[in-house]
Amino acid sequence: MHKDLEEILISKQDLEASVAKLGARISADYAGRCVTLVGVLKGCVLFMSDLAKHITTDTRLDFMMLSSYAGEHSTGVVRILLDLKESIEDCDVLIVEDIVDSGLTMNYMLQNLKTRRPRSLEICTLLDKPSRRKAPVPIKYTGFTIEDKFVVGYGLDYNGIYRNLPYIGVLKKSAVEAQGNNPCR
Ligand code: IMP
Ligand code: MG
Repeated sequence: MHKDLEEILISKQDLEASVAKLGARISADYAGRCVTLVGVLKGCVLFMSDLAKHITTDTRLDFMMLSSYAGEHSTGVVRILLDLKESIEDCDVLIVEDIVDSGLTMNYMLQNLKTRRPRSLEICTLLDKPSRRKAPVPIKYTGFTIEDKFVVGYGLDYNGIYRNLPYIGVLKKSAVEAQGNNPCR
């Protein structure tokens, strides 16, 4: 386990099993159709690449990168830093996210993508933290529902690091305090 973690919340084995199950459900639900996975960078990267390998129907991969407007607290006002490469009009779109927390980011994504007239639009999130929800988000596929703890690993970061860990863990308070402004210390 990484020295900055308090505990491992979800092991590599449990992640693999859950991702395989999600892939099987998605394969069945979209059988005979082409599904467009829209990943939200950067958190989606590890999850989406593993998930895509378990999908047996034709699949397109596209990405968006979003950022909340400057300020300490999430306002739900989101800026698009990187937009989709392809049109999604008349396509079956599945948004792939690492975690839904307040729901403000996903709510924005849904409203934004709806205006592009996809045939269908659903959400797949690895983690759901429902206790902090501020905006309602209809999630179709969830890997794990977790308590209100700050977690890192398997795509999720703190200050840009820990994304590469093959498991999900809870960060120590001391690790947060020690980090300062330079994550590459
Ligand atoms: P929301 O708009 O509050 O739902 O924000 C979701 C985004 O906040 C996620 O895509 C993550 O980037 C980030 N986030 C929320 N909770 C955590 C966490 O526990 N660890 C790491 N990132 C988190
Ligand atoms: Mg994210």
